[in-house]
Amino acid sequence: MNFPADLLSLLGRTSKLVAITGAGVSQESGLRTFRDAQTGLWAQYKPEDLASPEAFRRDPKLIWDWYAWRREAVKGVRPNAGHYALVDIEARIPEFTLITQNVDGLHRMAGSKNVLELHGNIQRVRCAECYTFTETWGDDTESVPQCSICSGLLRPDVVWFGEALPRDQLEAAVEAARTCELFFSIGTSGVVQPAASLAHAARNRGAVVVEINAEPTPLSSKANYVFHGKSGEILPRVVEAVWG
Ligand code: OAD
Repeated sequence: MNFPADLLSLLGRTSKLVAITGAGVSQESGLRTFRDAQTGLWAQYKPEDLASPEAFRRDPKLIWDWYAWRREAVKGVRPNAGHYALVDIEARIPEFTLITQNVDGLHRMAGSKNVLELHGNIQRVRCAECYTFTETWGDDTESVPQCSICSGLLRPDVVWFGEALPRDQLEAAVEAARTCELFFSIGTSGVVQPAASLAHAARNRGAVVVEINAEPTPLSSKANYVFHGKSGEILPRVVEAVWG
């Protein structure tokens, strides 16, 4: 893949870069993207129908079990070349912010430091009522474990449809997007707000927007550069072309 010389030159001298990632970045680690079909037991459900407060109220055990299944899937995977390329980029750019919609924690596992987790983290569990975090809970075979303090039901510390994003993470993400010189959108379908609007905020403030994705998205026609393919293949080539 050939990268335009002006993009490589900009990457080599930029002092402020923001990257936003989505489920596509973890696909090569073996995790399913959000909008991929479910498998096995979960094939009959749409993820959107499981990731909501209403769903949890309706059937807490179903939702708890779905997240337990996903938590186990995440435990068994490792970061891929795309995650590590982003660590390399962070080491070379003075101000680098990684905004992720992923709840899998793979960016931090790879070594990324300045990471904003917009949608939470699937490994953290908290009380649905009093917000107390916990790392241990009792047997969950029959029912959803309860908070040891208030007896509320435990739930994953992720953002569900209709819920607000963590305010500090969102504010930092908006500020980074509005002030960066280069904005990379990687492995995200760009259809979920407010994350999707960050690329547009960056573009409106004059940043150069680069998209790396397996397929076209609503952002493609607005981006300055678009590369179609796997992030685990394209990102290491970008690093090699600029700093190799
Ligand atoms: P999606 O599943 O919507 O989109 C993943 C994108 O990655 C798609 O456009 C794929 O074409 C692309 N893709 C797949 N494999 C790839 C690869 N190896 N390299 C590059 N691109 C690849 O996932 P997200 O955009 O992350 O939020 O979804 C955003 C949010 O929607 C999620 O965080 C989740 C969901 O609602 C919440 O649960 C709050």
